[in-house]
Amino acid sequence: MRVVLGVTGGIAAYKAAYVLRLLREAGHRVRVVPTEAALRMVGRPTWEALSGEPVRTDVFDDAEHVDHVALGRGADLVVVAPATADLLARAAAGLADDLLTATLLTVTCPVLLAPAMHTEMWLHPATQANVATLRARGVTVLDPDSGRLTGTDSGPGRLPEPAAIVSAALALVGTGPVTDLAGCTVVVSAGGTREPLDPVRFLGNRSSGRQGIALALAAARRGARVTLVAANVEAALLPAHPGVAVERVETTAELREAVRSAAAGADVVVMAAAVADFRPAATSGHKIKKTADATPDPIVLVQNPDILAELATHRLRAGQVVVGFAAETGDADADALAHGRAKARRKGADLLAVNEVGAGLGFGDVPNAVTILDADGEVVARAQGSKDDVADGLWDAVTARRRAATTIDR
Ligand code: C5P
Repeated sequence: MRVVLGVTGGIAAYKAAYVLRLLREAGHRVRVVPTEAALRMVGRPTWEALSGEPVRTDVFDDAEHVDHVALGRGADLVVVAPATADLLARAAAGLADDLLTATLLTVTCPVLLAPAMHTEMWLHPATQANVATLRARGVTVLDPDSGRLTGTDSGPGRLPEPAAIVSAALALVGTGPVTDLAGCTVVVSAGGTREPLDPVRFLGNRSSGRQGIALALAAARRGARVTLVAANVEAALLPAHPGVAVERVETTAELREAVRSAAAGADVVVMAAAVADFRPAATSGHKIKKTADATPDPIVLVQNPDILAELATHRLRAGQVVVGFAAETGDADADALAHGRAKARRKGADLLAVNEVGAGLGFGDVPNAVTILDADGEVVARAQGSKDDVADGLWDAVTARRRAATTIDR
């Protein structure tokens, strides 16, 4: 497919290099069309080297080939990342004062704009009106992410992560089912473990297993062979997909055993289950009775093994990608993401998907949002939306990591 990648003059222009790389790795030909301002952020040689194509900014460069018309007619997809407030305004007004805006006027293929700017500029009625105009014309304008901006300020205005931009763009042209996990063996744990106190009582948690199930199904759709280790997941929720083998477990010890034996032959392990950190030191063989003096015996707990940390520290298979999930809340010491960063470094998993939980967030049948960190606690991607959207975002990050590892190995 032939893609035109427009780049405008925001600080996030450097991230367009990753967008370019992902598009190239997916096998597409990319012509980069920066604005003059974008070239002040990232120079022409970078774009030419990464794309292997000439880079022009002006309609008068190479005028004999009428480049803006040729580019527009030949493109199957246009992506502009980052799209500044100025670009949105020029595109909404139909201006054609450089090669990028002229190209936008000649294309008939899907167009995706990924805005990035300071929050005030994004929220300004002029920008919002321009976005509404563009969307009404059928242009896909992504909402910017919220988070840290160029200076110390934060809010909506961040460029969405490159992997998210690329998957949204490719979805527009329906490049067919993604089969990037074909031949891959995957283990996903889901649900929440229960630690019995006696034959009728247990210590447990609220995990429904929905996110883990969405992960297992998304992997199977993308071609993987999946073992889903489901801890106390409602039977009606369990998937019946030919690519997903389900193993049901109850306790942390059972989950550990099932995950480790499947992981020995797996390329990727995703620990989405909420695993009990502690279990009762003793399990009564009979129902614990009320005591005559109404003072119950204290429950003595012992610590469970940390299955994720074990898998990360002592790899069962070379090159295996180990992924964890961390549900976090902020507290007086730090916000949820800061706790996530510390956990990423502590656990040593290749990727840790951190989601903020609390009122209306994270648990059960509700939308989800995760920030994906690497083992150093650096943000590598963000994914949000339904649990299926988050699952696909996570697999995008996993496949990007596997591709990067293969490139390094070569
Ligand atoms: O430390 P925390 O429980 O927040 O870490 C969450 C991540 O660690 C999840 O991926 C979970 O599946 C995993 N975990 C584990 N074994 C434990 C506790 C958590 O594998 N005992």
